[in-house]
Amino acid sequence: MTKDKIEKLIAQLTLQEKIGMIHGNGFFTTKGVERLGIPPFKTSDGPRGVRKDFENDAWKDIGLSYDYVSYLPCNTALAATWNRALAHETGKLLGKETRGRGKDMILAPGINIMRSPLCGRSFEYMGEDPYLVSEMVVPLVQGIEENDVASCVKHFALNNQETRRLDVDVEVSERALREIYLPGFEAAVRRGGAKGIMGAYNKLRGTHCCHHDDLLNNILRREWGFEGITVSDWGGVHDTKEALMNGLDMEMSVTSDFDAYYMADPLIRMIEDGEVDRKKALAKIDEKVRHILNVMNKLHMLDGERSAGGYNDYDDKAALRQTARESVVLLKNDGNILPLDRKKIRKLLVVGENANRQHAPGGGSAEIKALYEITPLLGIQMLLGGNTEVVYKPGYYNEDIGNIWANTGESENGQADSLNQDSGTAQVSSEEKTIRQREMNEKYLQEALEAAKDADAVIYVGGLTHDYDTEGQDRADMKLPYDQDRLIAELLKVRPDTVVTLVAGSPVDMSAWLADVKALVYSWYAGMEGGIALAEVLFGAYNPSGHLPETFPLSEKDCPAVVLGEFPGGDQVVYGEDIFVGYRYYDTYDVATAFPFGYGLSYTDFVMTGIRAEVIEDTAESKGVKVSFDISNIGNRAGAAVAQIYVADKCPKVKKAAKELKAFEKIYLEAGETREVTLMLEREAFTYYDEASGSFQADAGSYMLMLAKNAEEIVDITEIEFEV
Ligand code: BGC
Repeated sequence: MTKDKIEKLIAQLTLQEKIGMIHGNGFFTTKGVERLGIPPFKTSDGPRGVRKDFENDAWKDIGLSYDYVSYLPCNTALAATWNRALAHETGKLLGKETRGRGKDMILAPGINIMRSPLCGRSFEYMGEDPYLVSEMVVPLVQGIEENDVASCVKHFALNNQETRRLDVDVEVSERALREIYLPGFEAAVRRGGAKGIMGAYNKLRGTHCCHHDDLLNNILRREWGFEGITVSDWGGVHDTKEALMNGLDMEMSVTSDFDAYYMADPLIRMIEDGEVDRKKALAKIDEKVRHILNVMNKLHMLDGERSAGGYNDYDDKAALRQTARESVVLLKNDGNILPLDRKKIRKLLVVGENANRQHAPGGGSAEIKALYEITPLLGIQMLLGGNTEVVYKPGYYNEDIGNIWANTGESENGQADSLNQDSGTAQVSSEEKTIRQREMNEKYLQEALEAAKDADAVIYVGGLTHDYDTEGQDRADMKLPYDQDRLIAELLKVRPDTVVTLVAGSPVDMSAWLADVKALVYSWYAGMEGGIALAEVLFGAYNPSGHLPETFPLSEKDCPAVVLGEFPGGDQVVYGEDIFVGYRYYDTYDVATAFPFGYGLSYTDFVMTGIRAEVIEDTAESKGVKVSFDISNIGNRAGAAVAQIYVADKCPKVKKAAKELKAFEKIYLEAGETREVTLMLEREAFTYYDEASGSFQADAGSYMLMLAKNAEEIVDITEIEFEV
């Protein structure tokens, strides 16, 4: 349909019909205009797959037997693969199933920066580095949108905590905003072509992000040229006039009084009462409708030649498993305890409640009604088959105290109450439950220790659950719940070779036993194939290649948001750490970490050397740097390395981080293989945001290019002179 035709369509619409298109007429849909062939616009959560269907106006699971879907690895897992192609595959499947379920927009991906390890929704996001996020979100969005559905990149912007998420006011420098918090969104829009953006609940400098003129009109539309739809977070609108004027296209919420939404009857009333300039208001409404119709047109919703989408097929399953495999991070392997040799293990003890827990149904709006979910215990059993006896002991007792999202009293679903939650307050267990937790824990601990004595090998699978990694609530600290520290320490006394595996969506404090553990593996909420992928890593059927997309600090007290800024703040939260987020802080301020950003081991060894660089003149205005190096797999099995290139300004004119990630590549090598790798650094790799001129600047001077295995392990350096 041509632009002309869209204008003609707009001209035929009544004000009422237009209003119906710009606000929810169900929890996940707007109104269509049947007489003109405009369908309703249907959305669905979310980042880990297509969420189940609810009744249109009640938070009741309809209980369909046909809304089971793929449960995808969470975004942190995806980021841990450092594999752009897998992000694309994941996006393709998400888009295909979104369309297959008859939806028009998937409320994903989530890409807020991990400012604090305590943020409850970290698992939905891609870690702490804007470059890594940008590189992963572009293919993810492109994959989604190949299926005639829109993505909805969220939450724009600065939704970096759950505590008081609905009204906390973020105070951040323009430089940190531009360098740290916005690049992922910009990449999703400019390079990924994202057709949807979701406003964040919180405020920025006094105004709610869902109707923030600077964010939505200036930055998103004027600077980045966004042509898609801006959607509010559910209940994120607080002012009719601001919503009208400041760039919001579609208001959604969690209450069923749809006509009372800010952009429904109140907007009509405002126009009728002359509280806004009528002509201006009508033009603004037309603009919103135009954005919506444009996207509908691109998705072929208006001309009927649309992709039908699909479902999880054989190839998709393989891609999901590969993503899960590549997300597993090997953190320690002293004495090469891993991989375990299945032939030598007659009796295997698996300890830990997470070995036997399914995580798909939890976490808030990222919950998934999974086709299936292979737990670690099932994955291990499947891999080992009948010749090994697998004994399972829970080891610790998970007294279900629920989280703010699940534990909602009268209502059937946490979302119904999500606007009234005193979010951020961790659930407190009752005295009775605490006593039971203690007693059961003791019993389970003894049973596990007893069983460990005569097992040939012990695998521990603990970590967090969605009572901790959850929407609506931050963690109080990084400690492992359910007294796991004690259990792990005791197990290591009985069996020093216990393999410790943690399943979680964010960093945990391991200081109680980290020095004693020899084999340590980190797995995320890795999707329906997660358990088998983990088993394959543990038993060597897959050589681990995941790398941390975020720093694992020793404790939350070391985190820059706390040391230099505020977390979680009060009415306001001041981002005093400025650009020093994640490794930018630990590195520049020389603060020890448990595991650095970019860290991950393999069962083989890689040597990377010979970094060399050359400035390339692309055009008169644009310069880039070509970086090459050699990489060899010197071990005796095939594997994949993640080569990371960090840039450091030798004489910065403004305060800069010691170094920043500006390129990476995941490289698969056979045993003994050597390869030359060449990567390009664009001009952006040398820029910083200059607040005075309001633009990104690159200063002429000497820069160091560092070839690294992770943020703390630089293996080779070269220098270049870069002239702007
Ligand atoms: C969440 C969004 C989600 C929306 C719709 C909100 O509570 O913050 O991420 O997409 O609900 O379920």
